[in-house]
Amino acid sequence: NLSPIDAAKYAAARKACDYVESGMKIGLGTGSTAAWLVRCLAEMVREDGLKITGVPTSSRTAEMAQAAGIPITTLDEVGRLDLTIDGADEADGNLTLIKGGGGALLQEKIVATASERMIVIADTTKRVETLGAFPLPIEVVRFGWKSTREAVAEILSAADVMDTKITLREADGQPYVTDEGHHILDLHLGRIGAPGRLAQSLLSLPGVVETGLFIDICDVLITGHGDGRVEIRD
Ligand code: A5P
Repeated sequence: NLSPIDAAKYAAARKACDYVESGMKIGLGTGSTAAWLVRCLAEMVREDGLKITGVPTSSRTAEMAQAAGIPITTLDEVGRLDLTIDGADEADGNLTLIKGGGGALLQEKIVATASERMIVIADTTKRVETLGAFPLPIEVVRFGWKSTREAVAEILSAADVMDTKITLREADGQPYVTDEGHHILDLHLGRIGAPGRLAQSLLSLPGVVETGLFIDICDVLITGHGDGRVEIRD
C-alpha cells in the first residue's frame, strides 16, 4: 500500500539491486530514495545471503544500514568502491545532477567519486530538462561564511542563471551544520544555463568546499514510476 511516489522510489531502488553482486563494496546514498535501497539490500543480505560491505554517505544512512543489518565500514578502510547508489534532487538528460537537499553532498560526492560506477535512483519528479528549479546547495566553511556569501552573489550576478537569491540553510532555527562541520548556502537560481562553468567559478572561492552539482559522475540513472515501471538511462 505504498503511495505512488514511494512505489516509484521503491521500484528504482529494487532495479538498482540488479547491479549488486556478492563481494562488492557499495556506497550507500542519503535521502528517502536511498533509504528504500538500504531496505532492499538488507533484505538481500538477510534472505539471499548477499555479502556486501556498505560505505554510508552520512551519519543518518550509517545508522539505518547498521540497524538493518548491512555490514558497514568507512571509505578510508576500503579505499575504492565498486558501486555507489544514491538519490538526487534533480537529474538532466546529460546525467548531471543537483544533490545535497539532504545536506550530505560533500560525503556523497567523495564516495561517488571513489566508486567505479555511480547509479542514481529517482522518481520521475526528479527528471528535468534544465537544472535549477531545485535550489543548488553549496557547502561553505563556517569561518567568514558571510563574506563567502557575498563572493558567491558576485559570481551569480555574472552567471547564466534566472534568479540569484541565496539563503543560509537552517535547522531548528539555527544555521545547519553538516557532518563535516560546515554550513550550507542554498542558491535559488531557477535555471542553470551552464552548470560546468558555474561549478568551476564557485569552487574557485576559498570558502566554498563543494557544490551540489554532480558533473560526469553519474553513470546510470534509474527512474521509477508509480506503477512500478522503471526507465534506465546510461
Ligand atoms: C542528500 O544530501 C541528497 O543529495 C539526496 O540524494 C537527495 O536529497 C534525494 O533525497 P530524496 O531521495 O529524499 O528525494
